[in-house]
Amino acid sequence: MNIQAILVSRFKTALASLDAADAAVPVSKSTRPEFGEYQFNGAMGLAKIKRCPPREVAQQILDAVELGDIADKCEIAGPGFINIHLSADWLAQQANATLHDPRVGVPAQPEQTIVVDYSAPNLAKEMHVGHLRSTIIGDAVAKTLGFMGHNVLRQNHMGDWGTQFGMLLAHLNDKLQANEVAETALSDLEDFYRAAKVRFDNEDGFADRAREYVVKLQGGDAQCLALWQNFIDVSIAHSEEVYHKLNVTLTRDDVMGESAYNHDLANVISELQAQGVAVEDAGAQVVFLDELADKNGKPAVYIVQKSGGGYLYATTDLAAIRYRKGQLNATRTLIFTDARQALHFKQTEIVARKAGFLAADDQYQHCPFGMMLGKDGKPFKTRTGGTVKLVDLLDEAVERASALLATRQNDFSADTLTQMAEQIGIGAVKYADLSKNRTTDYIFDWDAMLSFEGNTAPYLQYAFTRIQSIFGKAGVDISSCDAVIAVEASQEKSLVTKLLQYQDTLEQLVDDAAPHVLCTYLYELASLYMKFYEACPILKDDVSAEQKASRLAICALCSETMGHGLGLLGIATLDKM
Ligand code: ARG
Repeated sequence: MNIQAILVSRFKTALASLDAADAAVPVSKSTRPEFGEYQFNGAMGLAKIKRCPPREVAQQILDAVELGDIADKCEIAGPGFINIHLSADWLAQQANATLHDPRVGVPAQPEQTIVVDYSAPNLAKEMHVGHLRSTIIGDAVAKTLGFMGHNVLRQNHMGDWGTQFGMLLAHLNDKLQANEVAETALSDLEDFYRAAKVRFDNEDGFADRAREYVVKLQGGDAQCLALWQNFIDVSIAHSEEVYHKLNVTLTRDDVMGESAYNHDLANVISELQAQGVAVEDAGAQVVFLDELADKNGKPAVYIVQKSGGGYLYATTDLAAIRYRKGQLNATRTLIFTDARQALHFKQTEIVARKAGFLAADDQYQHCPFGMMLGKDGKPFKTRTGGTVKLVDLLDEAVERASALLATRQNDFSADTLTQMAEQIGIGAVKYADLSKNRTTDYIFDWDAMLSFEGNTAPYLQYAFTRIQSIFGKAGVDISSCDAVIAVEASQEKSLVTKLLQYQDTLEQLVDDAAPHVLCTYLYELASLYMKFYEACPILKDDVSAEQKASRLAICALCSETMGHGLGLLGIATLDKM
């Protein structure tokens, strides 16, 4: 059910009948209930074209538009706005049709094969906060796309190759020779990397050995590859630990690291050369991009192969595009990384299109995000300025949630409290990230994200438990609650209207790859629910049986929608808190 889309189509028909088939059809949600639920704001623009007084044009549109039983009142306001008051009966009918619908009233979209490239840590180091953002946001988008009916292919483009592995493998080799096990040696990748780098910079002969390892690795030396594989496996296990704690859907099957494209890099270059897209420049293979020329008209240079023959991050991304197009049949690709890579993906897309690696209507979308900042407004670091280990951060979230629960009166068992602390702590971290517009930087603030007030996970989780508790008190099971919904009080109307806006919320989320749209929706939904709950008694003695049943049914739809939305975001719901 997309009310906005229905209204747009009705107004479009009306405009066509007024010889204005090409006019814009700006329908939007009203900002205040007095203005109805929706507004049509196109009369003023059309009035300019027609050179007529805008209110007169608004009246003509109003006379022409057929809203049937959808609206029971439309009025012209101010300079020519048309305020649309939806019919309470119509809303009630739609709500009834949505109750207990496993798709929550949201039809599937025509299926598309969509690659979602997210998380993608560099295996030489610990995952850092940038990968936390990518993992959380990417997973919510992937899940929602799947629900919308798409064939979603998760691709974890891990950084598992490159010259830094020479130094790491030389160091690992020595550790294993000294009888250490790989898991122990690599228990902290950050420390391991630092130690290897110190040796590389200071120890006689080590840098040469490191370079030998690079050559052997690239040459496919079996022993060296085994050592590399050992390193990669341990490092992937570190990432999996984070995925597990975060309760995200990524698995090992989704791993398609940079190394997976090694065999195809030479083909990419020869293809680019054959097409005249890449040319030699000072021994390197480059693509000149006039599209991104500087102000003197000098084209941007995109290197695809270094003068020594080495390949780059860019070459691998071109190979990935070919694979995703040729083998996976993707027609849309979404890549989640921080905003600093924006230029890289813009250039990569231009080159891929020139080379025909992407068809004209294939979408290749870099979805950038801002930085996670500390309370001081600077990039998020530990107190001593080091990289924050994500596993530690998530453990701290659970500890803090546990401390928070201890301050609230309850009679939960110890096991239940442990589970609740995980659901609330992890939910808080994820939601704090998801709820911010992804393109802006945001401040990581424990107190704010764990607050029971405001747009936070605990607030939503708590609102959800409030609904469950009504059913507990009423002795009614949500799934068997099949009363007829009637919409009477204004709080019921606002709440039901919101419930029926779930579809357009999800459509916007998948169009913009922006989970915060769903967070805002759920927050507004929960707030409207609280208002409804205050104003509309349900279990009081003087409430008629019919009204009680109708209001419980509204609660049921609210629970189903909220539970579904939180599920797409990967935030756990609780029955009690
Ligand atoms: N490993 C990269 C990083 O940590 C992100 C990879 C994103 N995906 C891609 N196809 N380049 O920055």
